[in-house]
Amino acid sequence: MRFLVLGGGAREHAIGLALARAEAEVVVASSNANPGLERIAQTSVRVDPTDAERVVAFARAQKVEAAVIGPEAPLAAGVADALRAAEIPTVGPDRSAARIESSKWFCRDLLDRHDVGGQPKWVAPATPEEVDRALARFPSPFVVKPAGLTAGKGVWVQGADFTEPKEAGVYAKSLLLQGDRVVIEQKLEGEEFSLMAFVTDSGTYPMPAVQDFKRALEGDHGANTGGMGAYSQRDHLLPFLSSADRDRAYEILTQAVAALRADGLPYRGILYGGFMLTAGGPYLLEFNARFGDPEGINVLTLYEEGDFAELLYGVATGRVEPNLLQFRLRSTVVKYLVPPGYGDKPRPGGILTLDAPAIEATGVHVVYGSVEAAGPGKVRLGTSRGIALVGEASAIHEASSRVEAALAHVQGDYALRHDIGTKADLEARWEHLRRLRAPTAKPSPLPLSVAPPDAPASSAGGPDTLLG
Ligand code: GLY
Repeated sequence: MRFLVLGGGAREHAIGLALARAEAEVVVASSNANPGLERIAQTSVRVDPTDAERVVAFARAQKVEAAVIGPEAPLAAGVADALRAAEIPTVGPDRSAARIESSKWFCRDLLDRHDVGGQPKWVAPATPEEVDRALARFPSPFVVKPAGLTAGKGVWVQGADFTEPKEAGVYAKSLLLQGDRVVIEQKLEGEEFSLMAFVTDSGTYPMPAVQDFKRALEGDHGANTGGMGAYSQRDHLLPFLSSADRDRAYEILTQAVAALRADGLPYRGILYGGFMLTAGGPYLLEFNARFGDPEGINVLTLYEEGDFAELLYGVATGRVEPNLLQFRLRSTVVKYLVPPGYGDKPRPGGILTLDAPAIEATGVHVVYGSVEAAGPGKVRLGTSRGIALVGEASAIHEASSRVEAALAHVQGDYALRHDIGTKADLEARWEHLRRLRAPTAKPSPLPLSVAPPDAPASSAGGPDTLLG
């Protein structure tokens, strides 16, 4: 089968690798020459991925049988609509349904109108006067988000990014000047997790849960970024996420799909729920209309045994056979190598010398993102996330250690969060939720016992499967 992959980041490289493992042919349309995609693609073209006309012309000329859209911007620009109009089955919703990501206001309003659960309190002022009125009434602490697309970087959280509601008012009004609404939401206390699903006419099929690390610096400090790395657990839950909590999040996903359908907006693509697990269960932070980056890299690494091309083709054409949903029972950790200063003032242009075969020989995968080839074994960092190293193992902290060991094969000036998936970090997150749920109870250390590695995902679960 011949696929168009649209986009040139690490997420798209991971999609391309999963298609290549299924012996599909991959052609790529992207604004950059991703060295990893260049290696596996039959051919590629430099194009603005939001330029629907050129993308369709390339897809037609290449006689692709289906397309998969990686990033959000082409979805918001209607590239999926144009591909479908050209009779190219596409993984990615039409522009009107992609508003579930491209307009946080549309999303909250849709979910409220259809009584979808897990919504925090929210308002979406459209004028400076409405901002003042909303902030006079809205209980602290709260979060201010641009309604439109910001690559995860425009969210201001009380306590982390601002202190006084007045400061939030100035920020909210500056966002209005950019021509969109803002969304003000109750700040939720808990642990974030991502649950993605393949969505098509025949159903909504969940993937393993993932925890993303959005802040630039260790200990969850520094600026919000697109995500510095992420981990997933071998039973497809998370140390702090029980199967009941995951099932509740899945229910919210399916209710959202039903809400879109009820409004005449069918959906064929990936739906990504960003959730906060609170003492009162999961709440929805946002939906995205695509694979997460880095979360998609974790999950796609686990997709090896099934036929990914057939799965994506099924999503694009409306019918998925459930036997195609085959994610291995392994833990994964992704850590991104990024330019120094990333998240704030990235300093691009640094050269990384990378012995990819030596890294792969240690069982760690190299996934290429915002880098360009700079000679044998060398890449030049851009302004965004450069290289994703993916470790896998039975336990999360072992996968994290594998990535750390692989760093011996990388030279150059880069930043990276070493704390992703370490025992200390996992224990801190476990303790955080335990304190929220039972503030007066004695600490209960994260149990070290484990389910057998080959336990079926449905019967494993919860914190006792963590440390392997
Ligand atoms: N990792 C966050 C996102 O993909 O939006």
